[in-house]
Amino acid sequence: MPVKKQPRRSQAWFGRDGKMGFIYRSWMKNRGIPHDQFDGRPVIGICNTYSELTPCNSHFRTLAEQVKIGVWEAGGFPLEFPVMSLGETMLRPTAMLYRNLASMDVEESIRGNPIDGVVLLMGCDKTTPALLMGASSVDIPTIGVSGGPMLSGWYKGERIGSGTNTFSLSEDLRAGRISRDEFHEAESCMHRSHGHCMTMGTASTMACMVEALGVGLPGNAAYPAVDARRSVIAREAGRRIVKLVEKDVVLSKILTRKAFQNAIRVNAAIGGSTNAVIHLIAIAKRIGVELSLDDWREFGRDVHTLVNLMPNGKYLMEDFCYAGGLPVVIRELGENGLLDKKSLTVNGKTIWDNNKKAENFNRDVIMSHAKPFKKHAGITVLRGNLSPDGAIIKPSAATPKLMKHKGRAVVFENIEEFHRRIDDPKLVIDADSVMVLKNCGPKGYPGMAEVGNMPLPAKLLKRGITDMVRLSDARMSGTAYGTVILHIAPEAAAGGPLALVENGDLIELDVSKGKLHLNVSDEELAQRRAKWKAPKPPMTRGYTKLYVDHVNQANEGADLDFLTGKSGAAVPRDNH
Ligand code: FES
Repeated sequence: MPVKKQPRRSQAWFGRDGKMGFIYRSWMKNRGIPHDQFDGRPVIGICNTYSELTPCNSHFRTLAEQVKIGVWEAGGFPLEFPVMSLGETMLRPTAMLYRNLASMDVEESIRGNPIDGVVLLMGCDKTTPALLMGASSVDIPTIGVSGGPMLSGWYKGERIGSGTNTFSLSEDLRAGRISRDEFHEAESCMHRSHGHCMTMGTASTMACMVEALGVGLPGNAAYPAVDARRSVIAREAGRRIVKLVEKDVVLSKILTRKAFQNAIRVNAAIGGSTNAVIHLIAIAKRIGVELSLDDWREFGRDVHTLVNLMPNGKYLMEDFCYAGGLPVVIRELGENGLLDKKSLTVNGKTIWDNNKKAENFNRDVIMSHAKPFKKHAGITVLRGNLSPDGAIIKPSAATPKLMKHKGRAVVFENIEEFHRRIDDPKLVIDADSVMVLKNCGPKGYPGMAEVGNMPLPAKLLKRGITDMVRLSDARMSGTAYGTVILHIAPEAAAGGPLALVENGDLIELDVSKGKLHLNVSDEELAQRRAKWKAPKPPMTRGYTKLYVDHVNQANEGADLDFLTGKSGAAVPRDNH
C-alpha cells in the first residue's frame, strides 16, 4: 500500500476555510503578501537570534535576508521570527542560566506557528545549543547556519584571539607587564569585524559541531562572518530547507547516535571546547539519542588533536578557513577509520561524500593524524571519590607535567570568597597546591558560570608560575586554557563530595588513568557529611527558582528535567 503523505502542517493554518482561514491569512497580508503564498508551498521559519546585546550575532539581519532569498528561489515561503538571544559577554549572571529558557522559546515558537521547516541562525556560544535543543524537541526539517567567526585580532604585529588573549592581557596588566593604555588599545584590536569569537572557543566549536553532526552545510564552521561565502551558505540553506520539507527529512534523520559519535571525534580533533560535552549531551537527550560521558571517553580516546588554534595553539579561525577548514579535519578522520562515513547530512549527501576530496593548504594549521598537533588530546573523563558521576579535563589546553599531580587543597567556598582571598598576601598557597572552587555548578551558581579557570594568585604570577591544577563544579570558557578540572558531578550545592573538601586535603590527579582522588578516609568524609548544610538558594522566585528546582547535573547536560525528550510537531488546537 502506498504511504499516505501527511499534509503540510502550515496548511492547518493557511489552508483553512471560513473564519479561521480568514484570520490566519488576512493578518499576514497586511505587509503585502500575495494570496498565492498560502497555496501549500513549504513555509520556512527563520529563527533569528539577532540582538544588539549579542554582538556576535549583530549581522544576523543580513544573514536572514540571504536565507529568505534562497527560500523564495526554491519556491518556499519564508517567515522570520525572533527568539531570546544570549550574549555571552553581556548577559549576567551567565548566559548558560538562560540556555534552557531560550530553548523553550525556540521549541514553542516553532510548534505554535505554521512552520514546515526551520533554518536556525546561531553564533554566540549558547545560541547554538539553545536553538538545536528547541528544534530537536519539535523534530521538523531543520538546517543550522552559523554566523561565522570574526576576522583575526592583530595587536603590535601579533595575532590576538578572543578570550584567550583577554585572559593573558588581564594577567599581564595585573602583573604590571603592560600599561592600562596598552590594555585599552588591545581591546580595539581584538574584535574588529562582525562575527563570533575567532579562537577555537565554544562558539567556533559549536559551529564545527553543527557541520560535523550534518545539520549544517559543508563550510559552515569556518568562513569568517564577513566573507561573502557566509552569505552563500545562508542562501544555500534557504534553498535546501525547502527540499528537506518536500522530502520530509526531519531532524532526527540527521541527528543519529552515529552523527553524535562523529561530532565527539571531531571535537577531539579540533581541540574543541569543554562546553561541547554538556551541550551535545543535552541536544542528544532532546532528540532521543542516548549519549553519556562514557561516550566522550570511548569515542574521543583514539583521536589526536590536529588543529593548531588558540587557546591550545597559535592560529585563529581565519587561518583555519584558509587552510581548508573543517572538511580537511573530517577527511583526515575518515582516512584513519575514525568517522561513520554513511551519516546523512542536510545537503542530501553523506558526510564522507561531502568531505572526501578536501584539500589541506596549510599543514601548520591543520596537521595530519600521523603527525598530529597533540596526541590523544580529546576530552578526558575523570572519576573517583571526588567525582563519582564524572568530571572532565581538556588535555590539549593543559600543562603536560601537571597531568599527573598530587597537591594540597586550597579551598574557596564560592566565587566571591575566591575573589576576596586570591590576592591576599597571607593566603597560604604555592605552585604545587590544588585550587578548589565549590558551589559554582548548575544549582550552586546558578547557571554554572565559566569561572573554573581561576586566575592564579598575583604573587605566584610574579614569580613566573603560569599554570596550576584547579578543580571545580564550574565550566570554563572555551577560549581558556590551563590544567583545569571542570563539571565535577554531583556538584557541591547538590551535596557532592566536592562539598566536603577542606584546606590541606591531599588531592591526586592522574589524567592518563582517568583518576581524580581525594585522599581522605570514608569515615572522615562521613563525619564531614553529617555536618554539611546545603547553601541557601540565591533566588526564591521566577525563572531562576524554576531552573534551580529542575536543572540536571552537568553529566546529564544541565537541561531542565522536564525538557528532556520531545513533544513533536503535532499542530496545537485553534486559539479561537
Ligand atoms: Fe560571543 Fe564569544 S562572546 S562567541
